[in-house]
Amino acid sequence: MPHQRPFYLTTPIFYISGTPHIGHAYTTIAADVLVRTARAHGPARGLTGTDEHGQKVANAAAAAGMTPQQYVDSLAPKWRTLAPAFDAHFDDFIRTTEPRHVRACLALFERMRISDDVYEGVYEGWYCTNDETFWPEAKLVDGRCPNPECRRAVQWLSEKNWFFRLSKYQQPLLDLFRTKPEFLRPQTRYNEMMAILEEGLEDFSISRSSFDWGIPLPGGGVLYVWYDALINYISALGWPEDADGLYARFWPGVHLIGKEIARFHTIIWPAMLMSAGLPIPSRVFAHGWITSDAGTKIGKSLGNAMDPFAMRGEFGADSLRYFLLREAPFGSDFSISIEKLRQRHNSDLGNDLGNLLRRSLAMLQKYRNGLVPEAGAGTVQERVADLPSLVNEHVMAFRFREALDEIWNVVTLLNRTIDEQKPWELYKHQREVELDAVLYDLCEGLRWLSLLLFPFMPAKATEMWRQLGLAGTPERQWDEELVWGRLAANTQTNPGDALFPRIEPPVLSS
Ligand code: MSP
Repeated sequence: MPHQRPFYLTTPIFYISGTPHIGHAYTTIAADVLVRTARAHGPARGLTGTDEHGQKVANAAAAAGMTPQQYVDSLAPKWRTLAPAFDAHFDDFIRTTEPRHVRACLALFERMRISDDVYEGVYEGWYCTNDETFWPEAKLVDGRCPNPECRRAVQWLSEKNWFFRLSKYQQPLLDLFRTKPEFLRPQTRYNEMMAILEEGLEDFSISRSSFDWGIPLPGGGVLYVWYDALINYISALGWPEDADGLYARFWPGVHLIGKEIARFHTIIWPAMLMSAGLPIPSRVFAHGWITSDAGTKIGKSLGNAMDPFAMRGEFGADSLRYFLLREAPFGSDFSISIEKLRQRHNSDLGNDLGNLLRRSLAMLQKYRNGLVPEAGAGTVQERVADLPSLVNEHVMAFRFREALDEIWNVVTLLNRTIDEQKPWELYKHQREVELDAVLYDLCEGLRWLSLLLFPFMPAKATEMWRQLGLAGTPERQWDEELVWGRLAANTQTNPGDALFPRIEPPVLSS
């Protein structure tokens, strides 16, 4: 498999005043699977963090009787626990209140001024503090914020601000979208952004003078929170100083976001970078929403948030990771329920995968004292030859479900091998060569599964690896390890507890 160029993937930086819910965990987990898969082929880096400026934060801090800085400092630890709770490993966590970020924002602003793309003007319009967005009069719904999740009262703002000449970038952006359709996926989001671009772009204000919780500008006022937030993707790489060379190595990167913020990431952010003479992101993927069964987006403002920490407590991180990426095509909205989670846990993970490991190692124990036999003339090898490249291609194209479907074909194949070859009969009839071949196929097949599943379920894949008697973890380079026959004869396997103990529905008390 070709060694890939250094890979850099980011999640949105989450609003610090919110509470982590299952939607934030979803993005975080998907990003982690991508970074871990990329890392199996070469250098890869993942970034997440928190978005800490803006009027909403200032208001919440005041309500809590704290300064905005005290308030954000009190909330940051909670967000830092989100990724580790789901076994997601990021190389960096950026907070927009950090000095490195402030420096980068001011440097980018300066570059855009030099390009004559920033000018002073008076801004008047309807502002929604909750969404930190200006809305044109025509878009308001009954005089309120048009975002269906919000619908809060808007306020009229009139202030002297800095403007970004976004209109100048309509044509370059249209060219980008037309020549590189893979820049934004899936297609539905691409079509939406194309429609916005074809309608024409208006300049917009990138500073605020009505409040001061933001990055202060030399002549007064603070940067608009979205302008500041987008820059995190390069400030975290050390731009512009780049003392560690991370920016030079990893930029341009790939952004993974929810669909509601596609306009910021695929129109405004590329235009900012073009204006500053910097490379634009290589790709953006805008995924769908997790909804409640009623079809509404799960989020704090609707009060239907599912607590990801409680869900992890019940199912474990890996089961939740698997469910979220197997349940629906990545990009579409989908609803979740505890019942659906329990079903997938018990059937896909417990019955299909967990039992395959348990049955295989139990037979090896019984017939060969737990020692892996010599490789024989098994049939599994040819069936899995294309699997590593297929899985890699699917994951790198954000087709997580399809990648898992391919992996599960092998789980099914191995289970079928047991049912059809009936090792217990081979043993009974002393067909030793055939028995060795089947047992080797099962163990080597399981070793492949643990390598391929590692990005999706790092802890369970490591436990499989351990039970197979292998040292270390399955976090390895695929082109070195996914070579059929690498599992050494006489490896002493180590059967252990069930991988995915059954989870029963709660007993209803009468
Ligand atoms: N702070 C901005 C992003 C700035 S990026 C430069 C923001 N923050 S947020 O806290 O509201 O997080 C939004 C992101 O969380 C979504 O884009 C998505 O990645 C994730 N999700 C939040 N709710 C979600 C669902 N119900 N379903 C799926 N993902 C969800 O916007």
